[in-house]
Amino acid sequence: MIEVENLSYTYPGNAQPTVRHINFAIGSGEIFGFLGPSGAGKSTTQKILTRLLRHYQGQIHIAGKSLSAWDSDFYNHIGVGFELPNHYAKLTAIENLKFFATFFDKEVIPPTELLDWVGLQEEGDKKTESFSKGMKMRLNFIRALMHRPEILFLDEPTSGLDPANARILKNIILDQKAKGTTIFLTTHNMHDAEELCDRVAFMVEGELKVMDTPRNLKLQHGTRVVEVDYGKDVPHSRVFPMDTLGSNPDFLELLQKEYVQSIHSKEARLDDLFIQLTGTRLN
Ligand SMILES: Nc1ncnc2c1ncn2[C@@H]1O[C@H](COP(=O)(O)OP(=O)(O)O)[C@@H](O)[C@H]1O
Ligand SMILES: [Mg+2]
Repeated sequence: MIEVENLSYTYPGNAQPTVRHINFAIGSGEIFGFLGPSGAGKSTTQKILTRLLRHYQGQIHIAGKSLSAWDSDFYNHIGVGFELPNHYAKLTAIENLKFFATFFDKEVIPPTELLDWVGLQEEGDKKTESFSKGMKMRLNFIRALMHRPEILFLDEPTSGLDPANARILKNIILDQKAKGTTIFLTTHNMHDAEELCDRVAFMVEGELKVMDTPRNLKLQHGTRVVEVDYGKDVPHSRVFPMDTLGSNPDFLELLQKEYVQSIHSKEARLDDLFIQLTGTRLN
């Protein structure tokens, strides 16, 4: 659905490129996560793919057609969730949705239904200037979905949302995937990435360093261990390799002799792998 070859981009006036020779391909119905610390170039990449930034170097094909060959019909096929919500402050939520619906040459989902998806059914007649950041984020999100696009670009969709609202948005993202939508998801939240993405790419300073499924990354680079907290008066902690636990005399002796507080299996986490593989912290 999305093919990117040797893409580079330099902002006008900048000496150094922000995006550097990146390559990736996203299959139909896939959720592809673009992960990286702030300033890595994730939003810039999304802006190029959604034609907000022109004059890039490299090749981009979307739905089989070169990005430069698409006309304005492009926006009937893609949905874009912006990093920073931009609505008309003096218009109500419903008025905003109706206004943005006029850009599409196709039928859209009714505003009241969209608002209902994200718990804003009571807020439809309020001006968006009175909305909290989280409410604006949710309105921004449903705006991207109103015309049932085949491809969704979401830039940090859950950023700044409380866990309950983040959950609602993540469920909608998974629903979209179940309907076959292809999703380009930008985030610096590893938990979201791990839960939602079929594959992830790690971006650092404009380059893609790693690309794989979260599961493969953990299998190939993680260590499987068990951590035991024990001791009644003085707390102690020991770590044992998971795979030889049953025949590990130290582990078995500890279980027999000590007061065990807790035993946890410690899978590799994507944020640890990010540091391990890129040498960079996520935040
Ligand atoms: N309009 C702009 N003009 C010049 N430089 C920009 C502009 N927008 C972003 N940048 C720079 O490009 C880099 C990547 O930004 P961005 O794509 O927003 O990163 P991310 O989304 O990964 O946090 C940053 O160093 C940022 O300062
Ligand atoms: Mg960004």
